[in-house]
Amino acid sequence: MAKFLTLDDIDLNGKTVLLRADLNVPVKDGKVTDATRIERLAPTILELLEKGARVVVMSHFGRPEGRDPSLSLAQIVPALSQSLHGRALAFARDCVGPEAQETLRGLKRGDVAVLENLRFHPEEEKNDADFARQLASLGDIYVNDAFSASHRAHASIEAIAHLLPAAAGRLMQAELEALASALETPDHPVMAIVAGSKVSTKLDLLNFMMAKVDIVAIGGAMANTLLYARGVEVGKSLVERDMRDNAERILAEADKRRVELLLPIDAVVAQKLEADARTEAVAIERVPKDHMILDLGPKSVALLTAAMRRSRTLLWNGPVGAFETKPFDRATVAIAQKVAELTEAGKLLSVAGGGDTVAALAAAGVEDKLTYVSTAGGAFLEWLEGKELPGVAALSH
Ligand code: 3PG
Ligand code: MG
Repeated sequence: MAKFLTLDDIDLNGKTVLLRADLNVPVKDGKVTDATRIERLAPTILELLEKGARVVVMSHFGRPEGRDPSLSLAQIVPALSQSLHGRALAFARDCVGPEAQETLRGLKRGDVAVLENLRFHPEEEKNDADFARQLASLGDIYVNDAFSASHRAHASIEAIAHLLPAAAGRLMQAELEALASALETPDHPVMAIVAGSKVSTKLDLLNFMMAKVDIVAIGGAMANTLLYARGVEVGKSLVERDMRDNAERILAEADKRRVELLLPIDAVVAQKLEADARTEAVAIERVPKDHMILDLGPKSVALLTAAMRRSRTLLWNGPVGAFETKPFDRATVAIAQKVAELTEAGKLLSVAGGGDTVAALAAAGVEDKLTYVSTAGGAFLEWLEGKELPGVAALSH
């Protein structure tokens, strides 16, 4: 694993810490609807305060084109304050310049300020050196606790890390340690469940996984494309027909590397993707022409759970069925519960991540029962593709 400093290595007493957070959380009608990222960030802030620092939190929020009041970070402040036991937070209406300087001037040890959305300045996404210098001038130490944004080479993530003493926050540290324990130094056999709707978005991931793991189980509509490449009739199912060659290459690669590839052997099918649609479980060779595959069938679930019992380490990305529409959540929920059970029994080290995966685990009620659930979407995927994340690289030494 890349070496980086942590909060254990830096003297924080009396220092102003610029903390890059990922406050890009879901909001509806001005209220945070899922505070997971905020709750996972809070321990870092509390530790910094306990060690005598002033904390300046900076983050992006959404993808604004210039200054857009609907994407102000001001609306996240109440949720952040709540996660810090109701502590009052200062808010600067700009992340650089006089507004920011003025807000920070009054900051004392043990105080927290939040800066306005970094992306109100287009220089942020350009990794602009001068913008990074303006940010860096606001503090003494840089701490990156935004693993989930560290696949972006942006000024507050990449350029700034070279301008100040830089360390990983506790959430960043936990993410990197969990990912390393699952992929760099895992106990074998290692199994990956790779699912989701498209093979085309998971090609790099599958290629990298093939070189790292012993068993790969495929679910979701992307399995249809692999089945199609094997000549299975998949009826009206979602299939990327133009991905046939790539799918064939994946199948050949698994063979060559002797990776055990688990494709669905049965499926839950329906004529429409609709809540409470009439469903049927059929063998994978018997998908009716006017039906579509919407979930793994019970035999496939049994195949996967048996493989999980043989494994010591599990990496999971993507729901295995159309889990947002009942009853097509069944296989995902059953697998999630099995993962939780094996993990709790100490038989499996389990790491999951990627946007929908976390929602699926939460729906199954097991999001806190895996060894580690990442807060990251895109960054988790890029890591599973074997890519170097700019934010992590900039912290490394
Ligand atoms: C995320 O929500 O995945 C991160 O905050 C990154 O956001 P972005 O995709 O807009 O860069
Ligand atoms: Mg460096």
